[in-house]
Amino acid sequence: MATHVTPEQIALAATALAAGKLVAFPTETVYGIGADARNSEAVRRIFEAKGRPASNPLIVHVASFDQFSSCADLSRSFDRALVERRLTQLSGFWPGPLSVVLPAASAIAKEVCAGGDTMAIRIPRHPVALALLSAFGGPIAAPSANISNYISPTTAEHVRAGLGDAAAAILDGGPCEVGIESTVLSLLEETPRVLRPGAVTREQLSQALGCEVGALAPSRQPLAAEAPLLSPGLLAKHYSPRTPVRLLSSLGPSADLPKNVGAILFRPRELPFAAAHTTILSPTGNLESVAANLFTALREQDTLGLGLIVVDTCDPVGLGEAIMDRLLRAAG
Ligand code: TXA
Ligand code: MG
Repeated sequence: MATHVTPEQIALAATALAAGKLVAFPTETVYGIGADARNSEAVRRIFEAKGRPASNPLIVHVASFDQFSSCADLSRSFDRALVERRLTQLSGFWPGPLSVVLPAASAIAKEVCAGGDTMAIRIPRHPVALALLSAFGGPIAAPSANISNYISPTTAEHVRAGLGDAAAAILDGGPCEVGIESTVLSLLEETPRVLRPGAVTREQLSQALGCEVGALAPSRQPLAAEAPLLSPGLLAKHYSPRTPVRLLSSLGPSADLPKNVGAILFRPRELPFAAAHTTILSPTGNLESVAANLFTALREQDTLGLGLIVVDTCDPVGLGEAIMDRLLRAAG
């Protein structure tokens, strides 16, 4: 789909941000709803619009690596020289779907840190996001542009459906290329740790950093909101449609299924039950296509009045780790 964002729309959106308003914009991962990261009142509006718990910190978006130094306070790092070296080792991933958690500088509104003193930061790769960041000239705090706990939006239409009233502007950059949220990597400790898997894989990070990269096992994450959480977006139940979701691999041969069951498959295959509606995400099971199409498929099937959505699974390695992470959460 062609994108039709004009320079005038970018300029208006940048002016709205400067006036403390919210702007929804595309990134390569999912759409974000952004505010000036230095403006407390504007950032509070994001939490209100999403119904987001005040304990869940935001990702700060910047246009270039140079801007990291005005947003992060590396003097508060556990080892400044080591963290600076790690950022240089990771710089090849930006612009791109990698967010790193660092101590926040005092210029960043404390609401971004949601009660802590750290924030996640990244340079998105979508040309519309980069144009907006350049026109605005400062850091933009932006979570995914969905009502809290619902599926992240991968089209402007998804944003309109959930948060249409909250945004002064919604920039339509077409469907998101990656389709799932960025990898969140904590650089707050000696061992770098993936708090949320994404398109930049643990294997890639480990290779770039030349060290082991830890992970949070989904099963070890808390089920209910308790503050302060290690990474509050990682509640085990998250990214969920309203329709119940089950994983295909968890259905026994004599599973008791409701009448209207939807199926979301990674590639064409035989099902052990008759599905009322089937969506195939990729003709070959290609994981990039699966990720790019997954959230739209979940949203579409969630409007069909189904009793259950059954979703395919894959090995949790590489991009499959991020896909299975989101599906395990959607299945609660
Ligand atoms: O791809 C993305 O990351 C999208 C686009 C818009 O950039 N944004 C996004 O934001 O997914 P959000 O707010 O939906 O998810 C942010 C994640 C949450 O899991 C949050 O807990 C984690 O990043 N996070 C942010 N700051 C953190 C911090 N200081 N410590 C630990 N986790 C943090
Ligand atoms: Mg989100």
